Amino acid sequence: MRIVLVGPPGAGKGTQAAFLAKNLSIPHISTGDLFRSNINQKTELGKLAKSYMDAGNLVPDEVTIGMARDRMEQPDAANGFLLDGFPRNVSQAESLDQALKADGVELDAVLDLEVPEGEVVKRIAGRRICRKDSSHVFHESYSPPKKKGVCDVCGGELYQRDDDTEETVRKRLEVYHTQTEPIIDYYRAQGLVVTISALGKVDEVTKRAMEALQRKD
Ligand code: AP5
Ligand code: ZN
Repeated sequence: MRIVLVGPPGAGKGTQAAFLAKNLSIPHISTGDLFRSNINQKTELGKLAKSYMDAGNLVPDEVTIGMARDRMEQPDAANGFLLDGFPRNVSQAESLDQALKADGVELDAVLDLEVPEGEVVKRIAGRRICRKDSSHVFHESYSPPKKKGVCDVCGGELYQRDDDTEETVRKRLEVYHTQTEPIIDYYRAQGLVVTISALGKVDEVTKRAMEALQRKD
């Protein structure tokens, strides 16, 4: 399946993507994780992306679209993928459509995670991620690691993301409403959107998501 995951910052996209990708045997492609890995490796792309990310703004399309396409062209994504954090505005969505059309394939579903803003703020405030791999995500009270400050998956150090400050989160929410939400209407016009509530336990949300995706299959 080819799926786009959409939802506000802190909705649980990365958390759900890890389980859904495993269940569906498709790679989880997160542009946020790709940028963070570039930042860790101190690449030019990472340096550029960090300035935008720390301010809560979108990284320019010229950079983002090329990076996402390169990742989608890897052999493991030939038969499907779960996109998390991309596309994030209408021009990225149009560019994705063109790329898929050129390959003679289509999206199967756009899974829209709905969470009230108050909950999103709590989820982000307690989030801790792994220094070695930013797709290893924990929460101080909702899903704490077995040993405080240490990643259960790989033993890496857990830390709070630089863009998880109150001020940047406010900006990211504003950017989500003005630039990203319009892609939901864009995809709704193509009959692709399934909206689910992302409230409740992580495994309950995964179950809800799998059922919604099966209805689209
Ligand atoms: P990105 O990394 O994509 O961040 P985001 O969209 O703001 O989303 P988050 O990672 O904050 O949240 P999430 O929904 O994945 O939640 P999570 O699963 O971690 O992007 C960061 C930046 O990169 C952007 O601001 C931009 O600058 C740049 N960027 C990325 N893509 C771009 C693009 N396409 N174009 C331009 N720029 C781009 O969960 C949050 C917390 O809640 C965790 O602690 C988790 O443990 C907890 N949690 C999850 N589910 C539950 C649950 N059911 N109950 C209780 N707690 C839960
Ligand atoms: Zn880890």
